[in-house]
Amino acid sequence: MSTTVTVGLGSRSYPIRVGGWPEVEFLALLKGRRGLIVTDSTVGPLYGARCEATLREAGASVVRATVPAGESSKSMQQAMALYGSALDAGLDRKSFILALGGGMVGDLAGFVAATYLRGVEFLQVPTTLLAMVDSSVGGKTAVNLPQGKNLVGVFHQPSRVVADLSTLATLPAREYASGLAEVVKYGVIKDARLFEVLDASADKVVARDAGLLESIVATCCEIKAGVVARDERETGERAILNFGHTLGHAIEKLTEYSGWFHGEAVSVGMVFAARLSSEVRGFPAADAVRVERLLERLSLPVRPPAGLGWRAVRQAMTADKKTEQGIPRFVLSDRMGSVSYGCVVDEAAAQRVFDAMV
Ligand code: NAD
Ligand code: GLY
Repeated sequence: MSTTVTVGLGSRSYPIRVGGWPEVEFLALLKGRRGLIVTDSTVGPLYGARCEATLREAGASVVRATVPAGESSKSMQQAMALYGSALDAGLDRKSFILALGGGMVGDLAGFVAATYLRGVEFLQVPTTLLAMVDSSVGGKTAVNLPQGKNLVGVFHQPSRVVADLSTLATLPAREYASGLAEVVKYGVIKDARLFEVLDASADKVVARDAGLLESIVATCCEIKAGVVARDERETGERAILNFGHTLGHAIEKLTEYSGWFHGEAVSVGMVFAARLSSEVRGFPAADAVRVERLLERLSLPVRPPAGLGWRAVRQAMTADKKTEQGIPRFVLSDRMGSVSYGCVVDEAAAQRVFDAMV
């Protein structure tokens, strides 16, 4: 079983296959072409050989490049090494680069694909839940600089995304829960029904029930695909995907990107955004409680790290690259499944909500 979702971008439209490993026909466009599989040191040994075998069966000739697992590989240095691997493998402008791994590999390989020979074809095979529902869809690529995350990047859409849910079986529980934070986000921002499903079936979701996951991941991809199709370059609506991220990014920054996973920080950020929405946007307080309870049931944190005070948080939010003129912008909801972006709120209200959470 599988579900196909299309990202509608005219001549650059592409399918996302959610389910099992696809049949060779799905990759038929690679016949007779050279490719570089980029993976990391954890995912490569698990799924690299199968990926290589399928690509060869599809008629491509491929080599594999492996970077060390972990966010520190999302760097210019690793990008440089991958340009070298691409040259050594004889990749030309008709060749392709395929990312096999989580969001780190996807962002790095996508950046290399976007820039090598001014851009070659790119495919994503996401193996974390976060990558399946978020980073593999929409064409954002990036590397980090010592000064901050994702500071250098380019939009470069993939031509195929293969989300093989069976790879989630080996994903550590904390990584899986971190991806679930983004899943909950989609419910709050765009799909009250998705939120209801998650709320009603949290135990099955935690148990990684295959059938349920296929429909949940496909729904998330559909929502993101719609947003990206309407606002590919984030000049407007795409900002709604940052629900919970204003505080989330501040937490990640203040904990120096160690200790807290992205989804964990976003989880706390969503509790904050939901409570703030109740305070200033009329979001039902009972729904803010439901958001918080659901996140807890999915094994996600709902309180900021101990010792974090409003002053530091406010400063970190001001330094975020999505801030405009030093004023933090929030994505806030008036009712489940509906949000507005670019919201400026009274600082006293934001502080009150934050202080009530610590
Ligand atoms: P990740 O890619 O670092 O993966 C997390 C860990 O899980 C790694 O150690 C990895 O080796 C391991 N792993 C991956 N798949 C596995 C599997 N199936 N079984 C066992 N282990 C597995 O992290 P992530 O959470 O997937 O992605 C985070 C990155 O994504 C960040 O760099 C973030 O900036 C980026 N991101 C990008 C976008 C975008 O739109 N481009 C959106 C969100 C996040
Ligand atoms: N993860 C946010 C975006 O893709 O825009």
